[in-house]
Amino acid sequence: MRVLGIETSCDETGVAVYDTDKGLLGHRLHSQIDLHAAYGGVVPELASRDHVRRLPLLLRETLALTGLSMRDVDAIAYTAGPGLAGALLVGSSVAEALGVALGIPTLPVHHLEGHLLSPLLSADPPAFPFVALLVSGGHTQLMRVSGVGDYALLGETVDDAAGEAFDKTAKLIGLSYPGGPVLAKLALEGTPGRFKLPRPMLHSKDFDFSFSGLKTAVLTTATAPGFAPEDRADLAAEFQAAAVEVLVAKAMAALRHCGLRQLVVAGGVGANLALRAALDAAAAKRKARVFYPELHLCTDNGAMIAFAG
Ligand code: KG4
Ligand code: ZN
Repeated sequence: MRVLGIETSCDETGVAVYDTDKGLLGHRLHSQIDLHAAYGGVVPELASRDHVRRLPLLLRETLALTGLSMRDVDAIAYTAGPGLAGALLVGSSVAEALGVALGIPTLPVHHLEGHLLSPLLSADPPAFPFVALLVSGGHTQLMRVSGVGDYALLGETVDDAAGEAFDKTAKLIGLSYPGGPVLAKLALEGTPGRFKLPRPMLHSKDFDFSFSGLKTAVLTTATAPGFAPEDRADLAAEFQAAAVEVLVAKAMAALRHCGLRQLVVAGGVGANLALRAALDAAAAKRKARVFYPELHLCTDNGAMIAFAG
């Protein structure tokens, strides 16, 4: 069965075809980073309009890439939510219209389920059950995944998501959109520990997170007298270290709690190399293994939606 996947929940237009026998046949992605950069964040109306512009093009490109025609597709999966309302509407309208025109089923997919299952697209996928750490721009969750569709929420953020904290912190210290990867790059030049930031809820004995206090602590530090632009790298490094420490500690506690040795990391923040290194080191100590989606499938994409469909 061949499933066409359409992702338009935020600032990336993604299209892919997944074949249940042959795997991912091809995928195309357009990022709106350049479009939103001037505004310092995603402008929903511009995002929707750009999805309208890009989606037909990407559909054609993906079909050309895979040597298929629309007639070769058996079902159409699309991101139904969560996401920006207008942006989601573009993907769902196109998917539903194509479904009616071709007489094939459409499959509304939960965006987070797409992220959650994306490591299963890799050459060496994890086997069920596993613990999933979902770290995107809108969500931070720990889940026990027993099978497709069989998810138990262990804990989640009580305020900002991890990616949101990266983005807001980046903005506070004057970095450009999208904040996460830019802040991670700057952190490479800095030393954690020179500035001291809190590790929120590190010892809360549950699987919940909180990141908004961390952001406030960054603001207090960055606006204190004497804070100079050249101090930004050290502050970025300390912020990243604080966020990573909490994420790793809670993920390991979740593995222990579930009695499992497989951790799957998904969502945009899963692209963070400091997080990957710290998770790998902590997991190795517990004889556990961490599975990541391929780097290009960490952030939003059509492949994970086609696969989930
Ligand atoms: O999963 P995603 O592409 O979109 C959502 O569903 O939210 O995640 C985007 C988030 C953004 O907050 C972005 O700043 C963050 O992932 N991100 C990163 C990195 N790459 C993307 N955060 C930290 N380090 C990175 N390398
Ligand atoms: Zn996402």
